[in-house]
Amino acid sequence: MEFRSDTFTLPTPKMRNAMFSAQVGDDVFQEDVSINALQEFSAQLFGFEAALFCPSGTMTNQIAINVHTRPGDEVICEEGSHVYFYEGGGIAKNSGCQVRLIAGDRGRITAQQILPCINPINAIRTFPATFTEHQRNTPSRVDHPFVFQKR
Ligand SMILES: Cc1ncc(COP(=O)(O)O)c(C=O)c1O
Repeated sequence: MEFRSDTFTLPTPKMRNAMFSAQVGDDVFQEDVSINALQEFSAQLFGFEAALFCPSGTMTNQIAINVHTRPGDEVICEEGSHVYFYEGGGIAKNSGCQVRLIAGDRGRITAQQILPCINPINAIRTFPATFTEHQRNTPSRVDHPFVFQKR
């Protein structure tokens, strides 16, 4: 195992065999048996109605930002966070949001740092609505939960 990043560890022969012998089908028509099973398992595991398999971390992050925001919103990120630093400006490109950065401690940011960055809600929307993205930071290999979300 290579823990510098989740992308360094190469698949073992057992993993390759599992892929080779997996039942496959057209996922758009919901005919991919393996994906269907994985989504059902995940939904049950986390207690949700349904789950969606996304084939990459970047895609998953971008979808998450998009479903939680509207264009013009502001996303609070730690300055080295994957979603800000390594995803090609995807927050602006895909969701039309601006970013407010917080300098963390090895990727970690605290509620005390976040709270003053949350914009007040006002009737004429002078301030962009705030969405807080608080995720795993790859360089520091630290996992963070989502801590706050507001529209
Ligand atoms: C937090 C986080 N998001 C996204 C990614 C990117 O994943 P992918 O290469 O599958 O797009 C990584 C990769 O290490 C990651 O650590």
